[in-house]
Amino acid sequence: MCNAIDRLRRDRALPDGQMRALLLCEDRDVLSYLFQQARRVREEAYGRAVFIRGLVEFTNHCKNDCYYCGIRRSNAQAQRYRLQEEQILQCAQSGYRLGFRTIVLQGGEDPFFTDEKMVSIIRGIKSQHPDCAVTLSIGERPEKSYRAFFEAGADRYLLRHETADEAHYGLLHPAGMSFRHRMDCLKALKEIGFQTGCGFMVGSPYQTVDNLLSDLAFTAAFQPQMVGIGPFIPHRDTPFKDRAAGSALMTLKLLAIIRLLLPTVLLPATTALNTLLPDGCEQGMLAGANVVMPNLSPQGVRKKYMLYNNKASFGSEAAEALDSLRARMARIGYEVVCDRGDYRQPSC
Ligand code: 5AD
Repeated sequence: MCNAIDRLRRDRALPDGQMRALLLCEDRDVLSYLFQQARRVREEAYGRAVFIRGLVEFTNHCKNDCYYCGIRRSNAQAQRYRLQEEQILQCAQSGYRLGFRTIVLQGGEDPFFTDEKMVSIIRGIKSQHPDCAVTLSIGERPEKSYRAFFEAGADRYLLRHETADEAHYGLLHPAGMSFRHRMDCLKALKEIGFQTGCGFMVGSPYQTVDNLLSDLAFTAAFQPQMVGIGPFIPHRDTPFKDRAAGSALMTLKLLAIIRLLLPTVLLPATTALNTLLPDGCEQGMLAGANVVMPNLSPQGVRKKYMLYNNKASFGSEAAEALDSLRARMARIGYEVVCDRGDYRQPSC
């Protein structure tokens, strides 16, 4: 199996059979070799720097009805909120003071935030903090909206593909949502020039190992600048409330494999991983991740942005706890840096 890991590192690809075996492998020595190789590749590209992104969850209204998500339209239990532009700018400012140089605006698909409103918020942050990158994570919009956001100064866009298998996509989403449209959005974002992120949940209902192979193949072919993956965690007010959570170990394996497929990708240890593992940030870094996204949202709304139950939000994933994150990273030999943390092109 270690030969397969060497091959993956060298070729940035692996035949399906070997990739499947690696995904299924639970041998501790093999996995520790996988994580070690992922760390090496990450350190060649980014050294031991940990990039931080300040996450502003600015609306939990959503017009979609994804079966897995706690802020889906049909969840009448969700306490809905929207931040005002002024509040969003204040979050960005407090993040800036704490040392964040990337602000991530994340929200449900909320038609209240028209293109004009988003453009105004993006311009507001960029004029207040010209040295900050702005990342958007606001779902599917027409291409012309994406262009308007890019022209307003947004630098990056996260849009998880959720699953690269169309049939599986259909089991996670209601009929009105289209796999093809999501893929078209991702293509458009990349063409426009955003540093673009795709990603998927690990252990989502009905997911098979074949689905994960498709996710990896899609991810390698799409060549995104960022990849967001985290374990599925059930939410009590969704159709998937009785489903098992995804595996933290499988998530760590996938982080390492993605690092080997895409040596310079920006790869976060996500909140969902941190929710399942008390030391998720550390374990994520040690498996090849190089980004953490602490929460900058106003304290009062954090519990309301509940995509899944028990979401971690008051530990080191809170922006105010940056010192504790710094200490946690220092303990494993990594350094939180005050930097935009842009994507670097691979050397060859
Ligand atoms: N568990 C884990 N991740 C989830 N997401 C949504 N609901 C859940 C859940 N129950 C993820 C999706 C989405 C991102 C914002 O959060 O992948 O793209």
